[in-house]
Amino acid sequence: MFDTMTLTKATGAVCGSLLVYLFISWAGEALYTTGAGEGHGGEEVAQAYTIDTGADEAAAPAADAGPSFDVIYASADVGAGEKVFNKCKACHKVDGGDGTGPHLNGVVGRARGSVAGFGYSSGMASVNDPWTPEHLEEFLLNPKSYVAGTKMGFAGLPKVEDRANVIAYLASMP
Ligand code: HEC
Repeated sequence: MFDTMTLTKATGAVCGSLLVYLFISWAGEALYTTGAGEGHGGEEVAQAYTIDTGADEAAAPAADAGPSFDVIYASADVGAGEKVFNKCKACHKVDGGDGTGPHLNGVVGRARGSVAGFGYSSGMASVNDPWTPEHLEEFLLNPKSYVAGTKMGFAGLPKVEDRANVIAYLASMP
């Protein structure tokens, strides 16, 4: 009799806990589920991305961005650019002779990939637009992403001032 009561109580307690557990996990799923299939779930995911990542990443660089390349290029320093060009000298000359890379005299305004007799990569040779300061700026920031498959084994110039100054130096070399 007494044992049966204890057993009954214990069973009741266990069932009660299970019910509470089931209820909590159901409530948790209802609150936090992000799976596809439920309209409001999808909406919440979209908002979370807009607020937590998209907006932050899109807004931060714009807020921190300094003057544009054009503005920096307008007051570029040819002397400082000559020093930056030391990083290019292993491959490029400005005396009309080609080395690992083509000569760079007159490269500002010169058609891309146009030095006769130089063996360009097909990515470089496939476009023959003139090199504007803006195109050179993008290329020198990250050569491999600007010209897919380029043979120019150079990581790029991360500083916009270095890019502006070296382009101004190249523009000064007839
Ligand atoms: C390790 C060698 C190497 C270094 C260092 C290097 N380049 Fe080059 N560069 C090349 C090669 C090779 C090419 C030809 C790329 C191709 O055909 O894809 C090239 C191509 C170029 C071109 C395109 C020329 C044309 O005729 O269209 C420019 C502009 C250029 N380099 C500028 C620079 C500048 C500025 C620097 C220094 C900041 C530099 N390079 C550093 C090897 C180098």
